[in-house]
Amino acid sequence: MERRNKPSAIPVEPSVPTPTADISSDNSSITGRLPTGETVTILLHGATVTSWKSASGAEHLWLSEKAILDGSKPVRGGIPLVFPVFGPPPKSGHPTSSLSQHGFARSSRWEYLGKSTSESKGSTGADDSIQLDFGLGTSEASKSWPYQFGLQYSVTLSAASLRTNLVVRNEGKEGFDFQCLLHTYLRVKDISGVSVKGLNAPFTEKAVSPPSTNAASAEPITIGKEVDRVYTSVPKDSTITVAEGTAPRFEITRENLDDVVVWNPWIEKSAGMGDFAPKDGYKTMLCVEAGVVKDWQKLEAGETFEGGQIIKAF
Ligand code: BG6
Repeated sequence: MERRNKPSAIPVEPSVPTPTADISSDNSSITGRLPTGETVTILLHGATVTSWKSASGAEHLWLSEKAILDGSKPVRGGIPLVFPVFGPPPKSGHPTSSLSQHGFARSSRWEYLGKSTSESKGSTGADDSIQLDFGLGTSEASKSWPYQFGLQYSVTLSAASLRTNLVVRNEGKEGFDFQCLLHTYLRVKDISGVSVKGLNAPFTEKAVSPPSTNAASAEPITIGKEVDRVYTSVPKDSTITVAEGTAPRFEITRENLDDVVVWNPWIEKSAGMGDFAPKDGYKTMLCVEAGVVKDWQKLEAGETFEGGQIIKAF
């Protein structure tokens, strides 16, 4: 018999999907995921972003098939973090002289500091971004650089963009000089159709010997041979657009990172790198690397430097 005055069901709030951060079972990487399906993966080794995918699963970053991910070598691909020296260090007499190429940050194991989600609500009603924070301090790996420092690296995944932001603190009693760079390997379909705009700044071409100095040009850059250029003092508000044919593929904006390296190793250099695969992988990658590399950034005791990039993918 149907009961009279049957208690009505307690209304249940529909559960709101939230971004998640999962640590891999071997404790080597963290994957952030948005409810809409976008993901980012960061290897604790180097705090290297190794993957950034759209909701459809399309990968935006290039990662070598032979990249070494066990911590014994810097990662060939993704976004390795260059600090405190760019390229080979000065031969002698500089505090970075005994460091290896591109410094120790990309070769050190970082600590995962946790996640935070944004207050803004996306179309799903869920938080629409997730920030993952990583830290590195004075350690075994940094011992040949004689300073006390703290690095915080934040990777923020939003529906259409990835932000990577570095904070450098001088925690010692004396000033130090450093360089830093976000060594971003962008994945492209076919390098022959790629053009780069927004780098209207003087540059040094390191792919020729001796390196050549070149005047600024508003012409889009195309890649048909080895390119290893350091663009300096790129106008702060200039958006760098990487297009495939006429369609924009990436847009990069920078904060406090005034130099930009454009690198494609092409045929011979790729062949010479044991961890670069496939050998014609240079056709599907282009490094566009924002940083401070032409000169040294001075940081006095107790001071903090912050610099970062936002990459928008289309
Ligand atoms: C680029 C440099 O940033 O990194 C190149 O401009 C260098 O000169 C390239 O070859 C790769 O460096 P590595 O140490 O990862 O082989």
